[in-house]
Amino acid sequence: MTNTAIIQFNNVTKQYDHDAPVLDHVSFEIERGKFYTLLGPSGCGKTTILRLIAGFTEATSGDIYFNGKKINHIPANKRQVNTVFQDYALFPHLNVFENVAFGLRIKKMKKSQVAAKVKEALSFVNLSGYEDREIKEMSGGQRQRVAIARAIVNEPEVILLDEPLSALDLKLRYQMQYELRELQRRLGITFIFVTHDQEEALAMSDEIFVINKGRIQQSGTPIDIYDEPINRFVADFIGESNIAKATMIDDFLVAFGGEQFSCVDQGMNPNEPVEVVIRPEDLEITSFENGMLQVEVNSQLFRGVHYEITGLDKEGNEWLVQSTKKAAVGDKIGLRFDPEAIHVMRFNETEEDFDRRLDSYSEGEADGK
Ligand SMILES: Nc1ncnc2c1ncn2[C@@H]1O[C@H](COP(=O)(O)OP(=O)(O)O)[C@@H](O)[C@H]1O
Ligand SMILES: [Mg+2]
Repeated sequence: MTNTAIIQFNNVTKQYDHDAPVLDHVSFEIERGKFYTLLGPSGCGKTTILRLIAGFTEATSGDIYFNGKKINHIPANKRQVNTVFQDYALFPHLNVFENVAFGLRIKKMKKSQVAAKVKEALSFVNLSGYEDREIKEMSGGQRQRVAIARAIVNEPEVILLDEPLSALDLKLRYQMQYELRELQRRLGITFIFVTHDQEEALAMSDEIFVINKGRIQQSGTPIDIYDEPINRFVADFIGESNIAKATMIDDFLVAFGGEQFSCVDQGMNPNEPVEVVIRPEDLEITSFENGMLQVEVNSQLFRGVHYEITGLDKEGNEWLVQSTKKAAVGDKIGLRFDPEAIHVMRFNETEEDFDRRLDSYSEGEADGK
């Protein structure tokens, strides 16, 4: 474990009754002081991960560590963690001050100290002066801020946020994304934020864990995940992408759309069936003759800044291009791209599979095999 890791999951599985596991041998490390996002479709296990960290449920197998200590059986109230719930879970009969003060009162903190801490927490979320307001008099965005103040006032080491922005309208949502990110920077506390919205994850995070069906598909910075998706699920879930079936002829040589291309990928079996991703912004339109791929345009949309053009290659793969150039349906055009723009993916490979493959590959090289 790296010395900055605050939370570690080691092969954590969570299973209810005899159903398929909700989390399936999940391993990861959370480093101190960063903004993490758990990103994945509804039902993939995001909330379950938060509940395990908070201590609201126990793992079926595997270990969870906090600051290097195993916490599998430590009760929720003994953990240095606070949760901001999806529905905020504020106390409707208490005013703003009492909602935020609640945790401190349970700890039997002195009155003067409670007042000072609540004041500070409210100023952090721009709610100074709202102490006496009733919760029902607060807007959605303000309730959100009360919920956050209630979490930070306890000075936890980690704050868990379960889709906290999903109830807000788009404009407020953008504003709160910015505010939350700023708040995390100012406090320096580790945030673990849950969303199913890929744009939100890309905009806010230091690190993203992309989750599907109870397994972490990939972890990394937003740019890593966008540029180097590990598999079709990630490529599809994050941004717009062109995905085509392909054959890895040999190291650095891949075939798709009826042509062969130089690429930067290696370490697969000769002639292994794979998939390739090329992001629309990495494709450039050229004349039919000069095209590395030759396509016939089957749709065109004006998007304000650029056109979105799709064309079919001779194998029937559809390629989406974003371009300031115009092309009409039925036009034959060429597409060009750099070897670096091609990203080769193994079928259903997760990051763990990938790391294992890389390890065995470099061990083989070291052995001279
Ligand atoms: N108490 C429970 N009993 C049985 N199944 C559950 C329970 N809690 C969650 N699940 C199941 O676990 C899966 C993951 O749930 P959850 O972690 O809430 O997903 P997410 O937050 O990503 O939408 C879902 O299929 C859900 O139905
Ligand atoms: Mg959830």
